Order: sequence, then C-alpha cells, then structure tokens
Amino acid sequence: MKRPREELRLIEAAVSARKNAYCPYSRYAVGASVLTESGRIFTGCNVENASYGLSLCAERVAIFNAVSRQQTLIKAMAIAGSAARPCGACRQVMFEFSTEQTRLYLVDLKPGASRPVVTKTTVARLLPFAFNPLTSGLLTRRAS
Ligand code: THU
Repeated sequence: MKRPREELRLIEAAVSARKNAYCPYSRYAVGASVLTESGRIFTGCNVENASYGLSLCAERVAIFNAVSRQQTLIKAMAIAGSAARPCGACRQVMFEFSTEQTRLYLVDLKPGASRPVVTKTTVARLLPFAFNPLTSGLLTRRAS
C-alpha cells in the first residue's frame, strides 16, 4: 500500500534530522520528527555532552522544539535510527503531548539495506499504565 504523503514527509524529516546528530561519544545517531495539530513538522536529533548524563535524545529535542512553538498536541511522530526505539523517559514525555490516536513510526535504517523498515505503532501501546497527568489529578484538562 502506498503511504500517504503526510506520513512520508514525516518519515523523511526524521531521516534527514538524524544527519545533524551530535553524538561523538556513542556514535549512535537518531533523528525524530513530530507532526502537530497545525500540520507543521518539528524535528530534532540527539545531542550528547562530555558529561554524558546531560545528553538529550532526539525525541525530546523534537518534542521540545514543537512545544516551544506552542504546538502541544502530537498527531504523529517518527524516529529514525539503527533499530531506534524510544527510551522510557522519552515515552513519558511523548505521552504528555499525545492522545490515544497519536501514531508512531519507528524507522529502522539498517546499514546496507536499500530502504528503511518502518514499524507503525502508537504512543499508548508503547507506554501502558503511563503516569497520566489527568487521571492523577495533576491537571483537570489537557494543557496547551
Ligand atoms: N538516543 C536517542 O536519541 N533516542 C533513543 O530513542 C535512544 C537513544 C540517543 C541517546 C544517546 O545520544 C545515544 O542515542 C546512545 O544512547
């Protein structure tokens, strides 16, 4: 089946953002892209630091990029890397700005493969029993 244009655009944005990864320590480059309610796409890459714990994952860079532009509702997100999977911390950050419908594309760039293998899932599936700002009573409605 042919992928819809929006989906392709999102995937391509994550693959392209990966090229900017600053990862001299791990040499593991990741790119991420976020499609928000406005239809705009925001991207990010992992940014490492000599003080390793200060490094930031591509997913959070992309999400914070969107939120800093007042885009707080993620419609879909793509993550590109060699078997890239969002870490636990990023899953919780993704959950904050997602809904049950938020789509997630895991874009596996296997070295030598002619094209990426894309796994389609949802944020909700990746983080069952998430800490939920609404059900915990911390928020009475979604913040924007
Ligand atoms: N990393 C990401 O950017 N996203 C993930 O989903 C997993 C890990 C980064 C953090 C670090 O810069 C490098 O990959 C190796 O862990």
